[in-house]
Amino acid sequence: MNQDLMKQHVAQAALSYINDDNMILGVGTGSTVNALIALLPQVRDRIKACVSSSEASTAQLLDLGFEVIELNDAGTLSLYIDGADECDPHNRLIKGGGGALTREKIIAEASRQYVCIVDESKMVPMLGAFPLPVETIPMARSMVARKLVALGGQPIYREGFVTDNGNLILDVHNLKITDPVALEQKINQIPGVVTNGLFALRGANTTLIAQADGTIKKQ
Ligand code: 5RP
Repeated sequence: MNQDLMKQHVAQAALSYINDDNMILGVGTGSTVNALIALLPQVRDRIKACVSSSEASTAQLLDLGFEVIELNDAGTLSLYIDGADECDPHNRLIKGGGGALTREKIIAEASRQYVCIVDESKMVPMLGAFPLPVETIPMARSMVARKLVALGGQPIYREGFVTDNGNLILDVHNLKITDPVALEQKINQIPGVVTNGLFALRGANTTLIAQADGTIKKQ
């Protein structure tokens, strides 16, 4: 099974978590979530509205006729479904490859359950092979980059990319992430950092992993 098929397969598996009536569903961002959104019409009856983590997901949801509401009008969400760039054995994640990490982290925090959907290529014993995205206020770019170098990383400015919040992304290569919670907190303390892509303080509750042999593993 190729990677696109695995994404569709794990998206299909996630539909079983949309199992209440009148749900307000938190929706992530990325190609795996795009596969999920395309399948949501199958469970349309159960979804009252969605809270979306990006303009891209919002546009896709609206196209399919779903109502998209503000998180501020939604209260605590029962379920958030989103992908990840890396996932470790403790459901701690690196996210932000698509640049939507800040809204994703906000919605994850506002949700009782975060179901992460990935294919097996995203599973790692230790986070950090994927460069860690750090959303940064533009005027702080150089100073934040120097602090990230001091932490042992090599930040690369994602040129030409502006987040939905009007900020920029530094992708930090070669970090040794032995303690994801401590590093998430440390990077968050740098003035000018809006969010970093470590989801360790609040990881996923459950990760559904599509395997190349066609099965779905649950972690
Ligand atoms: C976007 C994200 C995505 O969840 C992550 O990049 C995975 O994307 P894909 O499903 O396309 O591999 O964090 O900010």
